[in-house]
Amino acid sequence: MTMQETLRDLQQRALPEIQQTEHPEALEALRVKYLGKKGELTAVLRQMGSLSAEERPAMGQLANQVREEVEKALQSAGEILRAAAQEKKLAAEALDVTLPGNAEGLGHMHPLTLVRRRIEDIFTGLGFQIADGPEVETDYYNFEALNIPEGHPARDTQDTLYFTDSLLLRTQTSGVQVRTMEKLGHDVRIICPGRVYRSDAVDATHSPMFHQIEGLVVGKGVSMADLRGILELFAREMFGENTRIRFRPHHFPFTEPSAEVDVSCFACGGKGCRLCKGEGWIEILGAGVVHPHVLRACNIDPDVYSGYAFGLGLERVVMCRYGIDDMRLLFENDVRFLSQF
Ligand code: PHE
Repeated sequence: MTMQETLRDLQQRALPEIQQTEHPEALEALRVKYLGKKGELTAVLRQMGSLSAEERPAMGQLANQVREEVEKALQSAGEILRAAAQEKKLAAEALDVTLPGNAEGLGHMHPLTLVRRRIEDIFTGLGFQIADGPEVETDYYNFEALNIPEGHPARDTQDTLYFTDSLLLRTQTSGVQVRTMEKLGHDVRIICPGRVYRSDAVDATHSPMFHQIEGLVVGKGVSMADLRGILELFAREMFGENTRIRFRPHHFPFTEPSAEVDVSCFACGGKGCRLCKGEGWIEILGAGVVHPHVLRACNIDPDVYSGYAFGLGLERVVMCRYGIDDMRLLFENDVRFLSQF
């Protein structure tokens, strides 16, 4: 073979070989085989010395052409291999976004919170502000200032945990009445939701910890009629348009007159059923006109200002609303129960 034929032959073998390569390593081996220091092209170039000065330029040009062709083929084969490898990698990593997901179980609010928020919404809609008070309360705010002096029989029904003689877990949210009047004076329109504690054994309708929502309105000429109007509005919003309310005379040391307030049973409309135990009515709160002693304890003149207060049992409302017949369910945190609301 002449040198020219050798070069042509080299190119003719190299190009298809390179194009058919499937692995980058094999491609590299071909580069070494044809263009490497000990490669075929180098071997041919070594023989250039035996050529005449006339032959050399043409042969040099041909050799360069062959080198360029082989290099071009190596480069484009390399690019094709890299692109194929990338495509394979992407395909392996692909996510099928149409597959159904693994849904996380979402929690939701506790029924006590749901109803508390509903009640807060109703009263804030009526211009009430939401107040707060401490659960660890002094004897003064929980009893004394509420016209329940030491030795008063009302204390017997509201025994609680005492930290000291004068520091206790509050038995009612009514202490917030006093705290609020001390702070805001004689212009008050608040509700105060919160936990209260009593030394009661746990059963279907009792818990040593439960929730009340206190309400208090103070101003000039505030009367029992206003109390009735507000509670009627509240009952209709809470339990339905046709709900009626009824006041039964009662006694609380810090209101005079006082009443226990029932709503017509929203299950039977007042005819009598299992929910209302045949009564047609369900008791939900205690209320009354703020006692002059309480106003005076807060430096408010009872001859000029008056007010009404009420205290609503949140658990009662929740139990009635959802037809729950055992209060313990509200505190056991069994998700099988709680997930129903
Ligand atoms: N604090 C009373 C109770 O726990 C309820 C109440 C509040 C009554 C406000 C009248 C006025 O029974």
